[in-house]
Amino acid sequence: MKTVTLSSLQAFKRAGEPFSCLTAYDASFARAAGDAGIEVLLVGDSLGMVLQGHSSTLPVTLEDIRYHTRCVARGKGASLLMVDLPFMGNSTTERLLENAGELMRAGAELIKVEGEAWMADGIRELTRRGVPVCAHLGLTPQSVYQLGGYKVQGREAEQASRILEDARTLVEAGASVILLECVPASLGRAVTEALDVPVIGIGAGPDTDGQILVMHDVLGVTHGRTPRFVKNFMAEADDIQGAFRRYHEDVKARRFPAPEHGF
Ligand code: KIV
Repeated sequence: MKTVTLSSLQAFKRAGEPFSCLTAYDASFARAAGDAGIEVLLVGDSLGMVLQGHSSTLPVTLEDIRYHTRCVARGKGASLLMVDLPFMGNSTTERLLENAGELMRAGAELIKVEGEAWMADGIRELTRRGVPVCAHLGLTPQSVYQLGGYKVQGREAEQASRILEDARTLVEAGASVILLECVPASLGRAVTEALDVPVIGIGAGPDTDGQILVMHDVLGVTHGRTPRFVKNFMAEADDIQGAFRRYHEDVKARRFPAPEHGF
């Protein structure tokens, strides 16, 4: 695979070619995912749940993310490395800039921030300083207590228009990528069509430019109730590399997500 950059993601969008994204937390799995063709790796704060055993992403610290970013950066090969800003990492603009700087120094190539239109100023400050940003909208797990649980967002017309407007505002502020989590497929399509920048979806239907899943879900090592948008690719593969390849190929061929994975 050729080195994946933001320009590659924009080219995928222009060509109507979907791209695959997967979380990764260490060098070995990052290498396996890159070898399978996965274009974007995310050091997600989901590590608080799948690695550390917490019930939310809130306990994850900058130091945790920085450590796993360094690990993934060593194994990532040609994939683009996106990294999550942890909970409260944006509590002030100074903190946001310093934290993003630390993560870029650790190997991040794209910083993902959760937040709505109010994040516009922070995104403007980051992009002014050369830090590319992915803005995460819809179900934002760092706000799980405010949202009252891990629920689909944007089901009502008013909330759906607000998510679309927030996405427009954040792109105007400089966001290079939008990530939409757990929204109706119709909203996933509307946001993707309305924006010039690539839109990555998880539980956002089949029409977003890219798809992302948590690695543990792809490998079927999720405990408890699995969300509807998840598929265990290990069930159809002989080994981990095969499961990653199957996920990548199914995204590229638009076989995943299927209608049953959407809202
Ligand atoms: O932290 C994470 O893994 C994420 C994905 C679920 C998109 O934000």
